[in-house]
Amino acid sequence: MKLSDKKATLSFSDGSPSVDFPVYKGTIGPDVIDIRKLYGKTDMFTYDPGFLSTASCESAITYIDGDKGELLYRGYPIEQLAVNCDYLDICHLILNGDLPNAAQKADFDSLVTHHTMVHEQLHFFLRGFRRDAHPMAVLTGLVGALAAFYHDSTDITNAHHRDVSAIRLIAKMPTLVAMAYKYSQGQPFIYPQNDLSYTANFVRMMFATPCEDYKVNDVVVRALDRIFILHADHEQNASTSTVRLCGSSGTNPFAAIAAGVACLWGPAHGGANEACLQMLEHLQANGGIEKVGAFMEQVKDKNSGVRLMGFGHRVYKNYDPRAKLMQQTCKEVLSALGLEKDPLFKLAMELERIALEDPYFVDRKLYPNVDFYSGIVQRAIGVPTSMFTAIFALARTVGWIAQWNEMLSDPDYKIGRPRQLYVGSAVRDVPKKR
Ligand code: CMC
Repeated sequence: MKLSDKKATLSFSDGSPSVDFPVYKGTIGPDVIDIRKLYGKTDMFTYDPGFLSTASCESAITYIDGDKGELLYRGYPIEQLAVNCDYLDICHLILNGDLPNAAQKADFDSLVTHHTMVHEQLHFFLRGFRRDAHPMAVLTGLVGALAAFYHDSTDITNAHHRDVSAIRLIAKMPTLVAMAYKYSQGQPFIYPQNDLSYTANFVRMMFATPCEDYKVNDVVVRALDRIFILHADHEQNASTSTVRLCGSSGTNPFAAIAAGVACLWGPAHGGANEACLQMLEHLQANGGIEKVGAFMEQVKDKNSGVRLMGFGHRVYKNYDPRAKLMQQTCKEVLSALGLEKDPLFKLAMELERIALEDPYFVDRKLYPNVDFYSGIVQRAIGVPTSMFTAIFALARTVGWIAQWNEMLSDPDYKIGRPRQLYVGSAVRDVPKKR
C-alpha cells in the first residue's frame, strides 16, 4: 500500500472538529480512505451494509475493473490466460504469484496429481448422506470433514502445513465432487488416474464406470478447463470474503473453505448457474422463444419476484469478460458436439439480445455474467444441473486458498469483526410476573 499525497477530511455540521484520514493508492483502481482510527477519533462507525464502498483488505491476486469489463489474475488479462494456459498453470499463478516455467510446471502438475486420492474412510463418511441430497450439501460436509482426515496439515502457523493443505484441497476437490456425483447415481466411485491431466482425470472420475474402457473426449476437457479457469478467482466476492472472515479466527483451512462452499451455494452467487439453466428449461417448456417477451415483462416487474438469472453483477457494469469467453466456448462445444440447434442456447441468445436493447437493463447496467452460458456448456457435455455449483466450487478452491494464505501472511491481519448500528430496544427491565 502506498500513501497518497492526498488526505481525506471529514467535517461535521454540528461544529465538532474535523478529522483527517490517510489515503492509500493501489497499483491500479480506486484509492482507499483509511478509516481504521475513525471510531477512536469520532466515536462513530461507518455504515456500509453489503460492502458497497468498503475495501476489506489489500490483495495482490485479482483485479477487476467493472466499468471497463476487465479481469486480471496477477496482472494477466483473463482473455490471454484463457487461450494460452491450462487450469493448473492458473492455479500456480494464483497461488504462487506467477506462471510456472517448464520445470516448475512439471513439478506442480506432479505434486497435484499425487494428492488426488482421498482417504478411503471418506467413502464411508459420504455413505451417510441420502442419495438424493443436493451435491452442494454433500460437498460442504465433505470439505469440512477433510479437517478430520488430514489433521496433520491444520497448523496454520506452520508454512509447510499451509502449503500441503493448499495442494490437498486443489487436488482432492475433483475427486470429492466426482464422488458426490457417483453417489447420487448409485454408481461405484472411480479412482483418480495419474497419467491424465487434472481436468481429464475429473471428466473420467465423473463419467467412467468400471464396466468398460472410457476414452476422455478432448472437447469436453477443453470446455471444462475453460470453465475452471474463468471461475478460479474473483477478488473479494461473497464466498471469498466468507473464507477470509472464517479463517480470520485462526480456524484451519478445510473449515474455512467449507464455509466458502456453503456461501457459494446461494442463487445470487455460485448457485446462479443452476438457477439460470432451470430458468431456461422452464421457459422452454412453457412456450419457448415465443414467450420470451412476456417473461421479460415479469422480470422487469418488481412485484413478480422473478430475476433474469445469469444477469447482473455487483462489480461489472459494462460486460463480464468471462461471459464473452464462455459464450465463445458455448458456440464451440455445441458445434463440436453437433448441437448447434440447441433450443436453450437460442433462447439464451434471444434473452441477451432483448436485454441489451431494453432500457430496464441498459439503465441499470445489467449484462450477462459468467453463469449465463456456463450452464448450457455443462448441460451439453453431460453434467447434470445439480452439479453446476459444485464444479464452480472446485474451480474457486484455488482462489479461496490463495486469498486465505494472503490474509495470514499480512502482518496487519486481525480477526474480522464488523460493527453495527443498533436499532433495538433501549435498556428495559424484565416484568416481575409474566
Ligand atoms: N434481473 C432483474 N433485475 C435485476 C437483476 C436481474 N438479474 N439484477 C439486478 N437487477 C436490478 C435490481 O432489481 C435493482 O433494480 P432497482 O435499482 O430498480 O431496485 C438493480 O438492478 C440493482 O440490483 P441490485 O440487486 O441492487 O445489485 P447487486 O449489486 O446487489 O446484485 C446480483 C448483484 C448479481 C446479486 C444481481 O444482479 C442478481 O441477483 N443477479 C442474478 C443472479 C446471478 O446471476 N448471480 C451471479 C453473479 S456472477 C457469478 C458469481 O460471481 O457468483
